[in-house]
Amino acid sequence: MTVRSEAFPNGANPQHVLGPPAPSAIFLVLTVRPGAEETAKDFLGDIAGIVRSVGFRAREDHLSCVTGIGAELWDRMFHAPRPAQLHPFIEQRGDVHTAPSTPGDLLFHIRARRQDLCFELARQLIASLGDAVAVVDEVHGFRYFDERDIMGFVDGTENPEDQEAVDSVFLGPEGEEFEGSTYVIVQKYTHDLSAWESLPVEEQEAAFGRHKLSDMEFPDEDKASNSHLTLNSVESPDGTEHKIVRDNMVFGSVESGEFGTYFIGYAADVSVTEQMLENMFIGKPRGTYDRILDFSTAETGGLFFVPAQDFLDDPDGQLTAADAAVTGDAGPEAAGVAAPGGPASVDPDDDSVDAADEPSTDEPQADDGSLGIGSLRRRRQ
Ligand code: HEM
Repeated sequence: MTVRSEAFPNGANPQHVLGPPAPSAIFLVLTVRPGAEETAKDFLGDIAGIVRSVGFRAREDHLSCVTGIGAELWDRMFHAPRPAQLHPFIEQRGDVHTAPSTPGDLLFHIRARRQDLCFELARQLIASLGDAVAVVDEVHGFRYFDERDIMGFVDGTENPEDQEAVDSVFLGPEGEEFEGSTYVIVQKYTHDLSAWESLPVEEQEAAFGRHKLSDMEFPDEDKASNSHLTLNSVESPDGTEHKIVRDNMVFGSVESGEFGTYFIGYAADVSVTEQMLENMFIGKPRGTYDRILDFSTAETGGLFFVPAQDFLDDPDGQLTAADAAVTGDAGPEAAGVAAPGGPASVDPDDDSVDAADEPSTDEPQADDGSLGIGSLRRRRQ
């Protein structure tokens, strides 16, 4: 699904974040060599063209690429304040399990209906960047039976859809110069599959809070306090539920015996995802950590800002225009006019949401742009 600029009052043109689950994905996390910041910045504007070159020959296979920028690289590339919620990934050190923070300056989330398209795009992106970057993590993900994770449970069922997804993911007009942008958290998990598979199915189901075969959710009163679903339900004090959009993929190698889940979660308010991670690893209350972590180990952790496509096409121009808007010297660019070319995707069906409604702005906003929920928000102050 491409979100047309009509969804955003100032005309922002988001990257291709929302879409139907693609059968293939490649996740690339890169670091940018010191001194290569200008090369990396110039490259941002080339990405859409590279995606078109690879994907246009097979438009029916929906090649897309979402690009994220890490906090440290932002500071090195731009002489401008970071987006309000862009900071290094916050490590979660629980009494038993830890979510580590690992290096990452750029994220490419590549998706398509065919693995060869994903691979060719990854190859072309890295070839263009040359020795300006080092690949610190590369995961080739695939869609497993019935949309299941390799632990055997259907993954993605409770993702928000349509306008709710747009509202959950993209910064609206309150995002000022970053309208149409989002934040993404990624983590690579490896599983002790033999230990997991030795559990009776009833225990596996209790760990998630859903039935394995039918994917039916347990009634709330039957969900264990350490179940994945209980700990990932995040509400504000007034009972409003906060959602993120996930597109996890399975990966594995029979030779090494490494099997895993690549977690990826997009949110307009990254403190929602951070609260979920705190609940999972520290526990809610402390010590009541997510049962699936006894079988799944977080190996990596990164947080990236995913700007709108207009920003990727011309970052300095967008930052200058935003600055001019703040100082009152607003030219036509400051109105957020969408750049030609559109987001980095090749999508012939374009089952777009023409969301006329503005994304909700009624949520209380903290000074860092988060909803100010949970203890994470307080800790960062
Ligand atoms: C090993 C890693 C993980 C696996 C295998 C996994 C798997 C699953 C499965 C099978 C479901 C139930 C179906 C669904 O609604 O998708 C689920 C739900 C969910 N997961 Fe995960 N997940 C993992 C990590 C995470 C992480 C790190 C987060 C957040 C930071 C997260 C957030 C959620 C949320 C928000 C839901 C929906 C809860 C609801 O509204 O009912 N998951 N996950």
